[in-house]
Amino acid sequence: MTEMVRPTLARDPLAGGNGYAYDDTGTPVLEVDNASKTYPGEPPVEALRGVSLSIGQGELVGIVGPSGSGKTSLLQLMGTLDRPTSGHVRITGLDVATMDDGDVAYLRATRIGFVFQQFFLSEHSSLLENVADGLLYAGVPVAQRRQEALEALELVGLAERQHARPTQLSGGQRQRVAIARALIGQPAIVLADEPTGNLDQATGKSILVLIEQLHQAGSTIVVITHDRAIAERMPRRVEILDGLIVADSGSDASADRRARTAFQGPVPGAQPEPSPGEYP
Ligand SMILES: Nc1ncnc2c1ncn2[C@@H]1O[C@H](COP(=O)(O)OP(=O)(O)OP(=O)(O)O)[C@@H](O)[C@H]1O
Ligand SMILES: [Mg+2]
Repeated sequence: MTEMVRPTLARDPLAGGNGYAYDDTGTPVLEVDNASKTYPGEPPVEALRGVSLSIGQGELVGIVGPSGSGKTSLLQLMGTLDRPTSGHVRITGLDVATMDDGDVAYLRATRIGFVFQQFFLSEHSSLLENVADGLLYAGVPVAQRRQEALEALELVGLAERQHARPTQLSGGQRQRVAIARALIGQPAIVLADEPTGNLDQATGKSILVLIEQLHQAGSTIVVITHDRAIAERMPRRVEILDGLIVADSGSDASADRRARTAFQGPVPGAQPEPSPGEYP
C-alpha cells in the first residue's frame, strides 16, 4: 500500500485497464479549455492567453510555433506538470483543477507519457530498467514492469540491447528508449517536446517514422516543434503564436476509428488496474 493509490481515480468511471480501456464514449483524450498561463515577475509574462484545444483518441498532432510562442508552457499544462492560471485542462475527461497534487501525479503516471529533446535517461541503469521506470509511479509490481519494458523495447527495435546502458547508444537509439519509456503502461496520450531537436536530420527522420508507426498502431501522440517541416508531416497541425492558437487544421476523423479497431482486445502485457490492496 503506497501513497500512490488515489481513491478518486480508482473510483473514476473512466478508469479501467492500464490505459486504453478508459473510455469508449468519444470523450476527448485531452482538452485544454480557454487556458491561460501567466508567469509572475516584473512584468508578468503572459505565455498562454486563452488556449482551447481538444485531442481525440488516436490522433497525431503537431503543435508548431516559433521560440517563445508558448509551446513548452502548453505542453506543461497538457502534461499536468503545471496548472493553468485560468481555464481548465481535462485528461480523459478528468478536470485537473478538481484534483489534489497526489491525484494529478497518479493521473500523470498512468495516462500520460513524455518524450523530451534531452532524452532524460539514467546513465547508471540498463535500458530495461530505464523503460521499466516509466511504470514506477503507477504502482505496478516489479516483475510486470520488467516484462512490459521488454515489450516496449521490442516495439522500438531495441529489445536485444536491453542490458546496455544509454551511454553505449547513439542519440537516435536513446530517443527510442525514451519513447519506449513513454509508451509503457499504454498511456492515453504521449506528449513529445522537440523529440528530434538533439538529432541529426536522418536520425530525426527515423524517429518521426517511428512516431508515425506508433500512430498507425493506435497511439495518441502530440509532437511539439518549432520546425514547420516536421509539423507538415502530421495529420493534424496546430499553430501557436504569442500564446494563442492561430491555426488548427482540425481533428483527423479516421484516427478515432483506427484507435478503436486497433485496441479491441486486451493489449499484450497489459493487466487490469489492480485494486488498491494489490499495489506493492
Ligand atoms: N518559468 C518561467 N518564468 C517566466 N517566464 C517564462 C517561464 N517559462 C517560460 N516563460 C516565458 O513564457 C514565454 C513562452 O515560453 P515557452 O517556453 O512556453 O516557449 P516555447 O514556445 O517553448 O519556446 P522555445 O521554442 O524556445 O522552447 C516566453 O516569453 C518565456 O520567456
Ligand atoms: Mg520550448
